[in-house]
Amino acid sequence: MSRYAEITGWGKALPPTVLSNADLELIVETSDDWITSRSGIKERRISHVAASEMAELAGRRAMAAAGIDAGGVDLILNATCTPESIIPASASYVQAMLGATKAGAMDLNANCSGFVYGYVMADSLIRAGAADTVLLIGVERLSWVMDYTDRSTCILFGDGAGAVVLQATSGEAGVLGSVLGVDGTMADILCVPNDGTIEPGSASAVTRIVMEGSDVFRRAVTAMADASETVVRQAGWEVDDIDLLVPHQANQRIIDATARRLKLDPARVMLNIHAYGNTSAATIPIALTEALEAGRVPPRGNLVFAAFGGGLTWAAAAVRFGERVMPRAEIEDDLPASDRSVWELLQPNFDYFGRLERL
Ligand code: COA
Repeated sequence: MSRYAEITGWGKALPPTVLSNADLELIVETSDDWITSRSGIKERRISHVAASEMAELAGRRAMAAAGIDAGGVDLILNATCTPESIIPASASYVQAMLGATKAGAMDLNANCSGFVYGYVMADSLIRAGAADTVLLIGVERLSWVMDYTDRSTCILFGDGAGAVVLQATSGEAGVLGSVLGVDGTMADILCVPNDGTIEPGSASAVTRIVMEGSDVFRRAVTAMADASETVVRQAGWEVDDIDLLVPHQANQRIIDATARRLKLDPARVMLNIHAYGNTSAATIPIALTEALEAGRVPPRGNLVFAAFGGGLTWAAAAVRFGERVMPRAEIEDDLPASDRSVWELLQPNFDYFGRLERL
């Protein structure tokens, strides 16, 4: 009997504190108009809790939607480029909080493409019989690596988490086409330099994203469109067969260009970038969850995931969704309320970059 992997659960966790375009106008030379017209972003979230807390809640919501408990999870894949520590992987914290005592757990870093990389890997592991149930999480606390004096980057990124549960099934579902790509020769145009082990002792020198925005933009448009076209062809679909494109939410103009290349009706494109900005590996599972909540994924619907990010990585998957598009159960819990303003949350960041300017 054939073995496939079906998405049976989905969930998200967004911190409550909003950083709006109007807020950004107070700290960098920019305007709501400029940010909206160049990126589509109106606001983003800033987390007052650790990334693993967001991941745990998104994971628990996904497990509730799937109707499983943590003891039934074989593997936790935690896609992130903002881990809480190098050792252990953040996945260990998430596993402990969930009480997933029978699971293996690891972080996966393919930057903004991390969720799609993880999805293709989870699907393959299940099809191969190496796992029956995988919890795949995309989570980022990008405010941690943001320089809120740099208007070209700080307007784009935010914090959040999304998750899906994949389970073995005999009905045809899951990945029908996939592309995983990277151009490491261009890695320097989107990176956090001087962090990690590249130069011993340098880890605290500068911890911030630097990006050549227009170069990244051009490459993202080409790579996401090419990868999407390839997976649609691999799946044997025509453009009319696509029910919903769920793209990485980095810039609305990148998403629009991808849809134009596919000749896809904008009504079949999931967009929520205005609300959360770019949450890197978390954008697609958050967008997928919101698409399901809005009834935009039909039973056995044909979806395309497409992403681009640091590395420079890109990835796409043509995905056949399962029969069930309603959650089996929902949980009421939320992240704890924050008693700090957005400025109080960003204060350590300002202190840090103020100190650097004085050096
Ligand atoms: N407010 C006002 N002006 C800004 C600004 C801001 N927040 N950020 C940059 N500018 C200025 C620049 O300084 C530049 O001014 P100059 O011409 O006097 O030098 C001008 O706007 C145009 O900059 P440019 O970078 O060419 O703009 P753009 O149209 O490419 O848009 C980005 C900038 C960052 C929105 C866009 O390049 C982008 O989204 N890139 C991809 C980012 C991305 O997706 N990264 C993650 C990949 S997953």
